[in-house]
Amino acid sequence: MGIFFAENQGNKLFKLDTPNTSYIIGVVCEEGFLGHVYYGKKINDMQGAEHLTRMYDHPFTPDTNARDRLSFMDCFPTEYSSHGVGDYRESSIRVKTKAGQEAVLLTYVSHEIYKGKRALEGLPATFGSEEEVTTLEITCEDKAIGLKAVLSYSVFEDTDAIARNIKLINAGKDELTVNKVMSACMDMDNHDYEMITLHGSWARERHMQRKTIGYGKSSVSSVRGETGHQDQPFMAILEKTTTQTSGDAYGIHLAYSGNFRMMAEVNQFDMVRVMCGIEPENFSWVLGKGESFQTPEALLVYSAEGLGGMSRSYHDLYRKNLIRSPYKDKKRPILINNWEGTYFDFDEAKLYSIAKEAAALGVEMLVMDDGWFGNRFDDNRALGDWVVNEEKLKGGLKRLVDEVNALGMDFGIWFEPEMISPDSDLYRAHPDWAIAIPGRTPGLARNQFVLDVSRKEVRDYILDMMFKVLHSANIKYIKWDMNRPLSDVGSAVLGAKNQGELSHRYVLGMYEMQERLLQEFPDLLLENCSGGGARFDPGMLYYSPQIWTSDDTDAIERLQIQEGTALIYPLSTMGAHVSVCPNHTVGRNTPFDTRGYVALAGTFGYELDMTKLSEEDKQMVKKQTQMYHQFNDIVREGDYYRIASYGENHLYDCFQVVSKDKKKSLVFYVQVLNEANKKSRILKLQGLSGEMTYAVKELTMEGDLSEPIVRDTGKVFGGELLMNAGLGFERMWGDYRARLMYVEAI
Ligand code: GLA
Repeated sequence: MGIFFAENQGNKLFKLDTPNTSYIIGVVCEEGFLGHVYYGKKINDMQGAEHLTRMYDHPFTPDTNARDRLSFMDCFPTEYSSHGVGDYRESSIRVKTKAGQEAVLLTYVSHEIYKGKRALEGLPATFGSEEEVTTLEITCEDKAIGLKAVLSYSVFEDTDAIARNIKLINAGKDELTVNKVMSACMDMDNHDYEMITLHGSWARERHMQRKTIGYGKSSVSSVRGETGHQDQPFMAILEKTTTQTSGDAYGIHLAYSGNFRMMAEVNQFDMVRVMCGIEPENFSWVLGKGESFQTPEALLVYSAEGLGGMSRSYHDLYRKNLIRSPYKDKKRPILINNWEGTYFDFDEAKLYSIAKEAAALGVEMLVMDDGWFGNRFDDNRALGDWVVNEEKLKGGLKRLVDEVNALGMDFGIWFEPEMISPDSDLYRAHPDWAIAIPGRTPGLARNQFVLDVSRKEVRDYILDMMFKVLHSANIKYIKWDMNRPLSDVGSAVLGAKNQGELSHRYVLGMYEMQERLLQEFPDLLLENCSGGGARFDPGMLYYSPQIWTSDDTDAIERLQIQEGTALIYPLSTMGAHVSVCPNHTVGRNTPFDTRGYVALAGTFGYELDMTKLSEEDKQMVKKQTQMYHQFNDIVREGDYYRIASYGENHLYDCFQVVSKDKKKSLVFYVQVLNEANKKSRILKLQGLSGEMTYAVKELTMEGDLSEPIVRDTGKVFGGELLMNAGLGFERMWGDYRARLMYVEAI
């Protein structure tokens, strides 16, 4: 494994290997064009691989037919597309010179291969030890404009993933303006490929869409200044026949939390160009002499085992090489958040009563949500005034926290650090700290503006207020929220030529704030959030091991949201809570145990007023918390397999998590709608060992506390039978019914 280099008759070849995949780059022609040769199943001997760039295809080779260089440029499979010099497909880069032109053509200068991986300045990125990762850096240049570029590729020893980024350096005499710089680009032959992207809205995040790519450009993007509910910085390219278990699947995911673009383009020669990076609209960056610009990281995965293989590689990569938190391999505390329980209507006594009830049932942490600070009696005011409201929390924060701690519970708190309400002391003191364009009335959303956290004095001030609160009491957890996108993007301090930098500077500022917060409180459990799941992206995972998946806590709506999320993110990262019925978003009534099973597939917690639950539901809470402790290791550390999709069949959902040693597995099954006079379902399990024999048990929340939560069904099957023939699921009476099976090797 690792990175191999070979030189043959003036051609250079690089082969980047992961356990099951190879990625080959070639340097061809006198000019040193960087070509994409291959990405797919592992190839041990790369001899002759350069022929895959079709340099023999006359008249397309400039060496043999210089009179038609444009034809060459427009069909050469490149690693990083040029701009303005004959490749008429989407460019990866545009850089404006002093003279006002924007053409760029990067060609090979030198390369370096080393063990390990360098951090990306100011940006989240995957990491790994010298044993785990090998990196190739290819330095390119465009002599005509004095631009250097370092294309960086890192491969992981145990995971089928490749991390790419690019760093630009102004090596000339004159100032340059970068108007576009993508993180990765790759050209492949199009085998009638389809694409999967993840779409949504508030409370309906990451629903999967699969469609033919077709000629022309297909893209998803964000210009909201954050990732957003609407699109995910992710794209999968797959064959028409690719399923969960077989076929080619290429994933490309951007580790970034701001404006992004993911694009696939099919051209006249049936080649597909895949690309991702910062959205070029509203972006520009001035590069003075000697200065550099670092792009975010793109994360590529190839699987020959269908979508399931791709998902599992992303899960492993994120759990091992992206999430840094000390909690990443630990069971998280079961929390109760008061948002849906009380909204703004709470005081210290109310919170304490919820905590007391919850503690008795096995809940381990109380999270105080929005409304504890300044004059925040509703969502029209006080963002930015991060001072405890002692009218609400009589006796102060420390007293409440101490009392909650005395119940044996930890305490967590909500912040929305990047925001400012027009009705706040902060806005009255610093109106120019809000992002706005002079002469234009900035747009409000949820009656709030966005703070310009690209400014150091703003970051310092907000962090200082937060640190005071956090140092004042024993606080173990923060929910960092962000409840509106950016608009009217203008900075009061940047010069005219630098205004296009604001959106990216904003993201860098926000990352720096989270970094400083974690340096000050290294043991803090951070959960990111943005109006639900608008900031569920790999960038945020670098700071927080879990992210609030959606404001929609309805167990049935969650099936599709969690399926789309789990396509790329480990279950250990998905904030999932049990809430009351009728559900506050859709008004649906679902059984309490179904809500528990769906939330147990994520970080697990509650979002309700525990004092108002029936005795029967409280007993189930006790059983759910026990289940969490007994089975969370499998959910958090196991391999994820999708068996059936409610999003596709509109009737039922089924997925599985299997421990790495294949000895233990949980099978989650939800019968969303019952049907008359149908046979029971037999579903093929996955990921077990064909050589092992398994006992099938069932988890249950029924009965009083003396009854066990795991019931032995007496059924024993070989792994092959469960995978090749399947496991039967009897029909249940009614809709929205769930079962959780525990399959254990004997
Ligand atoms: C956002 C979050 C919710 C809650 C509210 C508070 O919508 O997603 O969970 O914290 O803000 O205002």
